[in-house]
Amino acid sequence: LGKTILHHPTVDSTQAIGHQAAREGGPHGTIIVADEQTGGRGRMNRSWHSAKGKGMWLSIILRPKILPNHAAQLTLLTATVLADVLDKYDSVKPFIKWPNDILINEKKAAGILTEMQAEQDQIQYILIGIGLNVNQTRDDLHEDIQSKATSLRIESGNELSIKNLIQELLIAFEASFDKYMEQGFLPIKKKWESYGFKIGEEIAIKTFKDYWRAPFHGISEDGALCTETEEGKPISLYSAEIEWFN
Ligand code: BTN
Repeated sequence: LGKTILHHPTVDSTQAIGHQAAREGGPHGTIIVADEQTGGRGRMNRSWHSAKGKGMWLSIILRPKILPNHAAQLTLLTATVLADVLDKYDSVKPFIKWPNDILINEKKAAGILTEMQAEQDQIQYILIGIGLNVNQTRDDLHEDIQSKATSLRIESGNELSIKNLIQELLIAFEASFDKYMEQGFLPIKKKWESYGFKIGEEIAIKTFKDYWRAPFHGISEDGALCTETEEGKPISLYSAEIEWFN
């Protein structure tokens, strides 16, 4: 992992560059890093603010020999890797909000966007995009996210080296990926749950058609949210948003 690191001062999105590199045969473990993204993308068609030198904006090309329906496990793996890296910093206590937002003091510090190219039951490649807010001050944060986002600098009071963070992330990612290929998802699931935000508590769940409150039990083998229907029947959800109460 990381034998090829493509570094760009400014790009539209490292995901766009990553797709192109992967289509052209870019090998497993290729990393695309940018200092700045002018069109950073988030999940659900949202945009991702990626100002110059303020955060870690990168994408990883993976070509794992797994089934396409296990790809979501790699997103959860990435969230645990990020949480592990941040946990080592003093005064930062990361949590993972299902499925894969990193929260510090209940505000979002990082997000992950996974995109996959697959044919029948074969993965051509998976592209994991990671955005981590590092050196923004509160004023730097765009006003539309100011109340719900944060950065490592805001939380720890210190400016941090993005280069070091990238190195730490890649080392931790490689170790965790190798373990996953050897031992499967169970160790990752346990780790994910150790960082899981609001596990064992009541949350609100929003799907495309419903909104209700239910207890959050944890995640399933394939990364689904284990919770209950309004009537109290156990269910696993693959696509939903969760909210919480204080
Ligand atoms: C989210 O929480 O919605 C996911 C955000 C992912 C942002 C990263 S930044 C690097 C990579 N390039 C992009 O355009 N998006 C991802």
